[in-house]
Amino acid sequence: MATDDFFKYQAQTTPHPLGLEISHAKGSYIFDANGKAHLDFVAGVSACGLGHGHPRVTKAIKDQVDRYMHVMVYGEYIQSPAVEFTKLLAAQLPENLETTYLVNSGTEAMEGALKLARRCTGRSELIAANHAYHGNTTGSLSLMGYEERKSAFRPLMPDIRFINFNDEGDLQRITEKTAAVVLETIQGGAGFILPKEGYLEQVRKRCDEVGALLILDEIQPGFGRTGKLFAFEHFNCVPDILVIGKGMASGLPVGAFVASHQMMATLQDNPKLGHITTFGGNPVIAAASLATLNELLETTLIPDTLEKEKLFRRLLVHPLIEEVRGKGLMLALILKTKDIADYLILEAAKNGLILFWLLFETRAARISPPLTISMKEIEAGCDQIITILNSYQPSTVN
Ligand SMILES: Cc1ncc(COP(=O)(O)O)c(C=O)c1O
Repeated sequence: MATDDFFKYQAQTTPHPLGLEISHAKGSYIFDANGKAHLDFVAGVSACGLGHGHPRVTKAIKDQVDRYMHVMVYGEYIQSPAVEFTKLLAAQLPENLETTYLVNSGTEAMEGALKLARRCTGRSELIAANHAYHGNTTGSLSLMGYEERKSAFRPLMPDIRFINFNDEGDLQRITEKTAAVVLETIQGGAGFILPKEGYLEQVRKRCDEVGALLILDEIQPGFGRTGKLFAFEHFNCVPDILVIGKGMASGLPVGAFVASHQMMATLQDNPKLGHITTFGGNPVIAAASLATLNELLETTLIPDTLEKEKLFRRLLVHPLIEEVRGKGLMLALILKTKDIADYLILEAAKNGLILFWLLFETRAARISPPLTISMKEIEAGCDQIITILNSYQPSTVN
């Protein structure tokens, strides 16, 4: 296929996309048009938790395609994949997170969560964190704690304030005016930053004091990536609204927000049709989500992420690596400089190892492989990383 066509007909998001032409993908590998295998340490940016072409997911999708695909807009007909998935999900979550609204992407799930918070509290103020990323539609973009990436799109949503993640001193800014505090459980784009011990508990406490809701964005860490089904389970803090997506459907477009039955009921009237979508809850995607969740629950993939993390941490020791941040298989290599990060990612791409950048932390190389990755594959990829770092010369021009 002509590379020119890719640049001409398909809208681009950067002037220098990686531009790998894909043939097919299987397990932890993506094969390019020349038949070369690339070891995938990124998993479609945390979306392909079960790797590529997982047989259980593929079968569920094919079976559902054969039965029916789209039959009605969201919420009117009883379609078993969506009902079974949301029921199984509820069984894994605290009691207040009982009812799920299925949508088409992470950012759309966040939009729904914001509307729900305003509808339930009758308040408008939203509080988000500096360096947060919650998606790219206008509401989610308004919460992005990174002015440079959003100023061109102003005016955005009004009545949004920012706090510093992990700064308990900022929590007094949450007041009786606040509809919701929106946080990533683990800050992704900012550099895979974990909440400090007790921080999320303090946020929860302050929200309860002033009647604000807590929305946790688990679009990236969710579905087992950090050693629990959801990362909030590590931090003794239950949100009022949980926002999920990415790994939920093993690579099909998806998102959802989860809250109490009582809160979700407010979307039914005053105004009626408080949130609607044509394709949300799509049966093929719900079937993939159900197969994914069943696979995660019936195997040791989730606890295994913590063993795999240990292996990464043991192998990724090098003078140019400042730190390995994150948890489970949501890891960021923090290099000494941005140049080293760029060199590593681009050299790895040439050598058949897929790494990727983070949105805001320029010294980082993302490591978020499929949860199904083997210890051997981890060793092979880490070996390549160390070899590339050994070859780095400060003057190296890519
Ligand atoms: C934490 C977080 N929130 C929201 C989103 C947006 O999800 P989507 O790209 O599916 O709209 C992402 C995507 O990278 C994310 O990492």
